[in-house]
Amino acid sequence: MTTSQDLLKKQAAEAALKYVEPNTIVGVGTGSTVNFFIDALATMKNDIEGAVSSSEESTKRLKAHGIEVVELNNVGNLPVYIDGADEIDEHLRMVKGGGGALTREKIIAAVADKFICIADESKVVGRLGNFPVPIEVIPMARSYVAREIVKLGGDPVWRQGFTTDNGNVILDIHNFDILDPVQLEQQLNSIVGVVTNGLFAKRGANKAIIASPAGLKFME
Ligand code: A5P
Repeated sequence: MTTSQDLLKKQAAEAALKYVEPNTIVGVGTGSTVNFFIDALATMKNDIEGAVSSSEESTKRLKAHGIEVVELNNVGNLPVYIDGADEIDEHLRMVKGGGGALTREKIIAAVADKFICIADESKVVGRLGNFPVPIEVIPMARSYVAREIVKLGGDPVWRQGFTTDNGNVILDIHNFDILDPVQLEQQLNSIVGVVTNGLFAKRGANKAIIASPAGLKFME
């Protein structure tokens, strides 16, 4: 069943097509909004050189459409990365990783010249942190990292039964009071055993395409 929220996700995703540069590799994120983007990208698959993918899930969908998936290490130039978000604020800082693909997403975002976030209006927040911040952790460090997170004021919940594409576990951090997302992102990164955290604040998006029933809004 297609919901009205799905329609908004699709509208934002399709609007991102115009930022895809012909004859280049496109960075592709993960999630239900990105799935609409991948379906739209298929219409111009002969105009691009291929895609780098942030997850096994997106790779599968890209390949099903006949879009070539390229290894990031073989890519010299990545003009644009298109991805969704779990939350985005007015400064285009985000919480990501609800789908657990945050590490590969952050790597591709770091490489890309431009990060374009696609989302429906429900993702726009005044302050980040209502959505639990996911943290990818080396399995043997899970308890240690959880204790360190408590010292920072968060309530970590192990996403039991979930393993990332990199073979690690996820802690979802509830109740973080995020006054300074860039600082918290750095603090979380400095805990031994943390692979990546889902705050995309230091490298936020360059542009966001937000769909609402009133139409599309472009934030930058
Ligand atoms: C995947 O790990 C996430 O970062 C997604 O980009 C994010 O959760 C948005 O997903 P939806 O488009 O499904 O809301």
